[in-house]
Amino acid sequence: MKIKSAMVFLLSIIFSAGMIAGDKTPKNLKVLDLKTTKEIKKYMKMIAKDLGVKCKYCHDMNDKSIDTEHKNIARFMMTMVQTQNDSVFNYEGAPQISCWTCHRGSTAPELVRPK
Ligand code: HEC
Ligand code: HEC
Repeated sequence: MKIKSAMVFLLSIIFSAGMIAGDKTPKNLKVLDLKTTKEIKKYMKMIAKDLGVKCKYCHDMNDKSIDTEHKNIARFMMTMVQTQNDSVFNYEGAPQISCWTCHRGSTAPELVRPK
């Protein structure tokens, strides 16, 4: 009996340590329809490149599920991109817009021709 409960105690410590250590399953996705860590990493690397920034520009590196100012702006931008792709670029063989379409490696994209 004693050994059994010690085992349960130990296992619960290992389990919660694992939860803290890694962003295994996403906890706070409100826009993206991505399931696996692999898919999320791939997408995140792409948007970081598109804006010319590192992960920490949007994330609290202790816990990426925490919302930050830039993360919330990025959510609006993701929604915009998804909406355009679903409503405008939705014909057969349509190209898809991305963060790169405007950002081109910068956080401050030029949207209109300079005067
Ligand atoms: C331009 C801002 C931005 C950058 C740069 C960025 N992310 Fe994110 N990330 C987000 C947003 C926004 C979400 C939440 C998306 C949603 O709500 O659907 C997110 C969610 C995540 C999550 C899921 C967290 C959870 O548990 O909910 C992980 C993991 C993550 N990002 C990893 C990374 C990594 C690794 C990098 C660098 C390669 C990175 N991100 C760069 C904006 C960013
Ligand atoms: C239609 C053009 C367009 C697209 C596409 C676009 N953005 Fe933006 N983004 C802008 C503009 C313009 C600004 C500057 C807004 C401002 O100055 O208030 C901006 C600003 C931002 C900022 C804030 C930068 C800062 O200095 O605080 C973030 C973060 C961001 N975009 C993320 C993204 C992500 C991530 C994507 C792709 C999912 C994306 N954007 C796609 C036009 C775009």
